[in-house]
Amino acid sequence: FLAGALGSAGLVLTGCDAMPSTSPVSAPDVARRLAIPPLAAARVEGGTRIFELTARAGTTEFMSGTETRTWGFNGAHLGPTLRATRGERVAVEVSNELDETTSVHWHGMHLPPQMDGGPHQSVEPGETWLPAWEIDQPAATLWYHPHPHGETEKHVYMGLAGLFLLDDDASQAATLPSEYGVDDVPVIVQDKKFDDAGQLTLDSDGNEVGLLGDVVMVNGTVGAYHEVTTGRVRLRLLNGSTARTYSFGFEDRQVDLVATDGGLLPEPVRSDQVRLAPGERAEIVVEMTPGEAAVLRSSDPDLGGVAAPFAFGGNDTFDVLELRPAEGLEPSPEPEWVWEDTGLREADAVVTRSFELQGRKINGLRMDMNRIDEVVTVGDTEIWEVRNLHPVSHSFHVHDVQFRVLSVDGEPPPPELSGRKDTVYLEPNRTYRLIMRFEDYTDPDWPYMYHCHMLLHEDEGMMGQFVVVAPGQEAGEVPGSGHGH
Ligand code: C2O
Ligand code: CU
Repeated sequence: FLAGALGSAGLVLTGCDAMPSTSPVSAPDVARRLAIPPLAAARVEGGTRIFELTARAGTTEFMSGTETRTWGFNGAHLGPTLRATRGERVAVEVSNELDETTSVHWHGMHLPPQMDGGPHQSVEPGETWLPAWEIDQPAATLWYHPHPHGETEKHVYMGLAGLFLLDDDASQAATLPSEYGVDDVPVIVQDKKFDDAGQLTLDSDGNEVGLLGDVVMVNGTVGAYHEVTTGRVRLRLLNGSTARTYSFGFEDRQVDLVATDGGLLPEPVRSDQVRLAPGERAEIVVEMTPGEAAVLRSSDPDLGGVAAPFAFGGNDTFDVLELRPAEGLEPSPEPEWVWEDTGLREADAVVTRSFELQGRKINGLRMDMNRIDEVVTVGDTEIWEVRNLHPVSHSFHVHDVQFRVLSVDGEPPPPELSGRKDTVYLEPNRTYRLIMRFEDYTDPDWPYMYHCHMLLHEDEGMMGQFVVVAPGQEAGEVPGSGHGH
C-alpha cells in the first residue's frame, strides 16, 4: 500500500518504522493544490458572534482512490477557521455527533475556566455545549482541538482541529500579507501513518514520543502546493501533530519570523529554521522570486546539542509545502508593525513555582481529574521554572495565559522566544523560566490545565491542574469529582 497508492500521490517518508532512522522522502509524482480551511460562518446575536462546530465522522481521500475514515468539525476532516476581533464577544455551539465523548479546547485563549474546553467540559454524544467569552488579548494564530481525558491523541489524530485567528488594531495596521487563503495562508502540519487498508493507525511501535507518521500533510493535503501571486506570502504554521517536532525552512532563502503562539514578535526575526513542537504556532513571511518555486521543508530539529536518541528518528528531512509563484508578482511591503509589550517584568513576580518533568509525571505525579495541583491568586505575576529531567524532549503548554520565556538554563532566550508563548519546546535536561500573569477570571472549583502537548504523554498523565482564585480564597472541589477516570 505504501509503495503503491501513497507513493503515487504524495510525500512519503520511508524508513520511519525503526527508530532512530533516517527518513528519505520520495518526491511527489502528483502534487495537489493546498486545501484552505474555510472561514467559519457566524451569526451575530445581541452583540455576540456565534459560531457552530459539529464533530462528526466521515471519510477523506488523502490518496487517490482510498477512502480513509476521519473525523472533522462541520466536515470529514479538520475544521473551519474561526476568526474574531479583540473586544468582541464570541460563542460557539459545539455539537458532538460522534459516538464517543469529546471536548473542544481553545488553545492559547484567555477565557474563564468553564469555557476552556478541557477534560472537565466534556461534550457527550448527541449533546451541545455553548461556551461564550470576550476576546481580550492581542491578535494571534490560536487553534482549537478536543481535550477529552486520556483520549486527546486519538481525537486530534483522527482530524479534529482547526485555527482560531484573532485580529486587533495593531495587526490590522501592520504591513503583513493579510488576504486569507491567498497571501495569508493557514498551514496546519500533521503527520499520519496508514495501515494496509489505507486507514489511520496510531500504532507508535512503542516509540517513546508517540506516533511518528510516515506521511506529512498540510491542511489535510498530501503533496501540497500553493499558487502565489504576491511578492511576499505569510504562512501561519501550526504544528497540529501528535508527537513530531518540525524544523521548518527553505533551502535557498531565509524567512522573516513575525509572530509566535500569542501574537506578533517585537520585530521580525530573520531565520533559517523555525522549530515547532506539537501545539506551537509561528507566522513567517516568505519572499518570493517570480516564476521560481520555493519548497518549505522540515529538516532535523536542532535539539540544542543534547542527545535525544529517540526523539525524532534522527534524520527526518522532507518537503512540506511547495509555493509556486506566478511569473509576475504583485508587490507586497516589508513587514512592519507596532508591538504591544507583554508588560511581564521579573521584578513584578511574587511567586515562583517549580515543575519537574520526568517519565510521564510532573513533580512526581500523574494527572488526577480530582486533584488541584496549584492554586494561583488572580492578578499575580508568577515565574514557573520548568525543568525537563527526561532524555526526551517535551512540549510544555499552559492554559489561559500567554507567557514570556525569561531564560533557558540561565541564559537569555533566543529572539524567537521573545514574544508571547503558550507552548514551549523543552530540550532535554534544560530549565526554562517562564513569566506569566493570571488575570480577570477566578473560580475556586474549575481548573485550567498545564501539560505536555505531545499527546501520548498528555494522555498518559503528564498534566496538572491549577485554579485561579480571589486573594485569600481557597481551592474548592472539582465539580463532578469522581466523574472522570
Ligand atoms: Cu492544545 Cu491543553 O491543549
Ligand atoms: Cu512530553
